[in-house]
Amino acid sequence: MIKITVKSQGQFHVKKGTPLIDLLARKGIPIPAACNGQGRCGLCRIKIEEGARPHDEIEKLFINKQLAQQNYHLACRFYPTTDTIITIPMSPRGRAKKSVSGALALDLGTTVLKGALVDIRSKKLIRTALTFNLQSCMGGDVVTRIGRAINGEYDQLYAMLMKSIAALKRQLGVKRPLFTSVVGNTVMLSFFLKKPVDDLAGYPFKSPLDHGVFQNDPPCYIFPVIGSFIGGDIISGILASRVYSTSKNVLYADLGTNGEVVLITPKKIIAASTAAGPAFEGVGIRCGSLAVPGAIKAVGINNGIFTFSVIDNKTPLGLCASGLIDALYLGVKHGFISETGKLNKTMSIGEFSLVQNDIRKLQLAVGAIRTGMKILLKQSKLSSHMIDEVMLTGEFGTRLRPGILARIGLIPSGRMKVTSEKNLALKGAVMVLTNDRVRQCIEDIKGKSVHLELANHPEFQKEFVHAMRFSPWE
Ligand code: FES
Repeated sequence: MIKITVKSQGQFHVKKGTPLIDLLARKGIPIPAACNGQGRCGLCRIKIEEGARPHDEIEKLFINKQLAQQNYHLACRFYPTTDTIITIPMSPRGRAKKSVSGALALDLGTTVLKGALVDIRSKKLIRTALTFNLQSCMGGDVVTRIGRAINGEYDQLYAMLMKSIAALKRQLGVKRPLFTSVVGNTVMLSFFLKKPVDDLAGYPFKSPLDHGVFQNDPPCYIFPVIGSFIGGDIISGILASRVYSTSKNVLYADLGTNGEVVLITPKKIIAASTAAGPAFEGVGIRCGSLAVPGAIKAVGINNGIFTFSVIDNKTPLGLCASGLIDALYLGVKHGFISETGKLNKTMSIGEFSLVQNDIRKLQLAVGAIRTGMKILLKQSKLSSHMIDEVMLTGEFGTRLRPGILARIGLIPSGRMKVTSEKNLALKGAVMVLTNDRVRQCIEDIKGKSVHLELANHPEFQKEFVHAMRFSPWE
């Protein structure tokens, strides 16, 4: 046996050669592992403080020179044979807090779980926290997890989700919340309720959550979902954005792991889930990163040289969504990338380079969102000029410039207002804790909403082909 020390987490004894990623998953230590430990996402970077060894060929793809010199490795490729000390750099902020009484809001995402602790009497937010979903070690996307659940690994996936929630509660400092409101995508909500996910595995994709659910033990409220892959997080985001009660036409997009688009009009709400994949979370992009300390959040250009800024000024770990979008825009503008997505010349941002495969994945993500928005507009017989507002939520934060998004074709161009807000789904879950009347709004949003299957739409193929250019909407 050898001793593994995970800084600020603890010491563990394991057999020589145990993959570090397995140890971390078993001990409930959050680390992003979106490719299920197959050495394809590059997100499971750790820093070996003691016990490093030379990098293998797969690690060299994801660990640049600067990080290699500091002994960064991939946890899924590191099999310690001697006592080892590690730190997890891409780790959510925050340690365990002293326990206090309060109500809990949970947003259960595929990659990240977010939580907020609320003082029920004063209705004030006490603190927020986030952690990685440990289920990622069993598959980066919900489709893989559904497959594994059906093939006999449901209990492990359920246990991973519960461990992740326990880690989040420790960070928030709440043991037994007085009440919990829960939002999330359909699959996460099914796991939370310990309901089977079999009906989400194939057409006609049915979700078991048509209405909000109350549970007594422990007391909680689980948001309803709009359709098979349009979860309670979308209803919650729409609730928090308050756009559902306006007389405007609003395009709403959640650019998380799945990429849902919604058209909100005074009469109805139409929602669709796209095949954008997790590229906007930096997953599957060789130089990608989640939006954590060390992520490159903004990219500029000066005399042909790319400049950048990093969250919390830490050692750069890779580019998160906002940095990737900046890089795409500048790449197209300055001829590094053609509108068809061909990489014409090397794009180096500090020690990181965007490769052709990265561009293709981002192109698919942008194209999928654009196709979804266009089909929703067609279905409602609206043109993009009739849109009053575009509202984005996801890991972009609030600093994205609309002109950049419109230039690469992610959103329509025009005079509409463009807003971007982080954590809308969590905000909706908090509203349930602070205002009894919002539960009626939730049912109203649900009642007004319809789910559109994009792939069945006759114009889907044509629109998707058009959407694969980095160009403004016609
Ligand atoms: S989990 Fe290690 S590279 Fe994806």
